[in-house]
Amino acid sequence: MNVLILGSGGREHPFAWKIAQSKQLQNLYIAPGNAGTAHCGTNVPVAVDDFEGIKNLVWEKDINLVLVGPEDPLVKGVHDYFLNDEVLKDVPVIGPKKDGAQLEGSKDFSKQFMFKHGVPTARYATFTKENVNEGLVFLDTLKPPYVLKADGLAAGKGVLILDSLDEAKKELKSMLLDSKFGSASSKVVIEEFLKGIELSVFVLTDGKSYKILPAAKDYKRIGEGDTGLNTGGMGAVSPVPFADDAFIRKVEEKIVKPTISGLNKDGIDYRGFIFIGLMNCSGEPYVIEYNCRMGDPETEVVIPRIESDLLDLLNGVATQSLDKRNFDVKKETATTVVLVSGGYPGTFEKGKEVTNFDSSKESIVFHSGTKQEQEKVLTSGGRVFAVTSFGNSIEEAVRKSFVTAEKIQYQGKYYRKDIGRDLL
Ligand code: AMP
Ligand code: GLY
Repeated sequence: MNVLILGSGGREHPFAWKIAQSKQLQNLYIAPGNAGTAHCGTNVPVAVDDFEGIKNLVWEKDINLVLVGPEDPLVKGVHDYFLNDEVLKDVPVIGPKKDGAQLEGSKDFSKQFMFKHGVPTARYATFTKENVNEGLVFLDTLKPPYVLKADGLAAGKGVLILDSLDEAKKELKSMLLDSKFGSASSKVVIEEFLKGIELSVFVLTDGKSYKILPAAKDYKRIGEGDTGLNTGGMGAVSPVPFADDAFIRKVEEKIVKPTISGLNKDGIDYRGFIFIGLMNCSGEPYVIEYNCRMGDPETEVVIPRIESDLLDLLNGVATQSLDKRNFDVKKETATTVVLVSGGYPGTFEKGKEVTNFDSSKESIVFHSGTKQEQEKVLTSGGRVFAVTSFGNSIEEAVRKSFVTAEKIQYQGKYYRKDIGRDLL
């Protein structure tokens, strides 16, 4: 088979790395890819939302399956574009159509979906500029902290958690009346604050059956001890010690099954990954959010733990025969430590030369924001690498990641040295 992966980040490299190991693979292309994916297949300079460029690529390279990494092309309808095109309509796309992608593309849609299908989640209400005053009154009925969410995609920045009622009211007005997050905040979801520990569960579905992939915990803040600004993710651990078999069974019964059957009842033919952000509230799972894709850096620990052939599983999704595919998971713990550019998540410089990233025997060095320029590899984003290692414990795995992280050289390198520590 010839496979095309869309994306260029720390999520797409492990996809490419894993698919490159498949016996079913002939040629692998990544659009646009990064300096790491170039070692798993061929990078092609086509943007993830350049649908016409993607069409030409699929035609030229005789692609048999497309795996979509990021949410943006899914929410913009890349899968629908394929289905509506004479040339592309029989090429399977892994990733939901526009309707299913709304689970991530609209917080209001996903909350309505959860309430309709009995999926446990925080109580909420949605407001627009027409009823902003009702929103202010609703805030009065809640206890702090206050959770305000821009309805649409806001590059991971659309959620505000505020301790003061005055601040929450001010922000609600700024989101609705002053378009704080552009059109993404023309609707705002206000919801109850859930107290607990966060983790993520990933599901791969062909619309009928599903496989629950390994769970992961990520580290969102830039600073050690979970302090400072939010980032895309500074590290991840899988499995999650507090998500034992009994907890995952609860997640399956209370969340995964009603989600899959809810999609069916609503006529949404969903084929792809569902990333379920959860809060473990005294042993009970509640959904914080759905994403219509895998997570980054969670993919960097989840995919390496899958022992089975990922391309075989994706073929199962494409042909709705996922239930017949082999699915085994490694028992060992995987950890990943993310190396970022100095200044991230604020302003940072790109184009720094990277050395010593390809000699590690103990870790897999996944590339996130890198690019090849002639002989050199340069930084090209905030998150530069995700260093994944295995061990019989979190301690053992993360120690290896730190040894490798220390060796990698570029100006301004920073990483958190406490990944996994809270779980020991
Ligand atoms: P989201 O983009 O919906 O994942 O929200 C970003 C982050 O805000 C989550 O990862 C949580 O840490 C936090 N968060 C979102 N909703 C809630 C909630 N209802 N209660 C507590 N924390 C929340
Ligand atoms: N690590 C969080 C995300 O991918 O959205």
